[in-house]
Amino acid sequence: MNPTEQPLAYWWPLATSHQLGTRRPLARVLHGRPLVLFRESDGRPAALPDRCPHRFAPLSAGCVRDGAVECPYHGWRFDGAGQCIRAPGSLDQGSTARLLQPLQTLEAHGLIWVRDSMLPTPPLPNPNGAVQEDVDQFWMHDQVRCSLQEAAENFLDAFHTHFVHAGWIRRDDRRQRVIADIRALEDGIEARYSEEGKQAGLISRLFEGSRGESFGRFRLPGLAEIEYRDARGRLTLLISAWLIPAEAGQLQVIARIVSRRGWLPGWLKQAVMRPLLGVVLRQDKRILEAVSAQHQRFADCAGHWGPAQMLDGRQDLLGPWIRQLLLHGKLRDFTGKRLELEL
Ligand code: FES
Ligand SMILES: [Fe+2]
Repeated sequence: MNPTEQPLAYWWPLATSHQLGTRRPLARVLHGRPLVLFRESDGRPAALPDRCPHRFAPLSAGCVRDGAVECPYHGWRFDGAGQCIRAPGSLDQGSTARLLQPLQTLEAHGLIWVRDSMLPTPPLPNPNGAVQEDVDQFWMHDQVRCSLQEAAENFLDAFHTHFVHAGWIRRDDRRQRVIADIRALEDGIEARYSEEGKQAGLISRLFEGSRGESFGRFRLPGLAEIEYRDARGRLTLLISAWLIPAEAGQLQVIARIVSRRGWLPGWLKQAVMRPLLGVVLRQDKRILEAVSAQHQRFADCAGHWGPAQMLDGRQDLLGPWIRQLLLHGKLRDFTGKRLELEL
């Protein structure tokens, strides 16, 4: 099994628990499938195709009543199992026939997860990004016009930060030698950077003391994580970005920003970090959308105007392996390695 052929076999988060209330359904698209999310009367999340079987109205434009989603057109109601429990005016009590095929749902780690229960469960553990320490956290959301692979690689590629985020994260004129260790995870790939020392960028200077180690990791089907630890091994910052393919060429991004609880209250930290990270995200979004559009622009002439395949450099530590994971569902010819680079 792999995420390219059977993406819905995997668990995907589609919303934070907080976003899914009890009154309003949520519209989401997962790998081109429009879905409606809502909560049943016991609070459990449910996910159905976002199409009323009667006249195909989008259920997400309706409302939730007594734990069932009500169509905005003629008011048919559907429970979490996809059964129509009310068809107003028909004098029908509703049937027990399943009119909509529900998706499997799960609420965990502050997120609502969805997968297609008709498909076999992937053999890999579900990434949960659990953190043990006493932390503050907040969420950020965005939509980007690019692929999962492009976004995952961008997020985990430290070597664009000197240019795309010049002065914010790193600077090209203030590089330092680092050791990078690349290792395989059960469901992904991880780079560990050591000896990076003090950072030159504004954001890093604001939020970090001396950096001990940092990690970039990708886990199937679409979790990209950056983790910073201080010289004593304590967590400084963990950004977990779930990259969720929505409509063709569109990516939904749910990012959780976790930092170790300190003297600064969480709300204040968030008030400072959110706009700064927003700047970085916008910088990434701009370059990512430009890069993604290049495939289309060069679709007819790529072969004549240079190599048709992307060229990997020595510093492209994770990109090639992310592509392999997404294509095959596992690493095929990977052996762990250590290399020295200038970051
Ligand atoms: S279209 Fe949904 S009830 Fe008629
Ligand atoms: Fe970036």
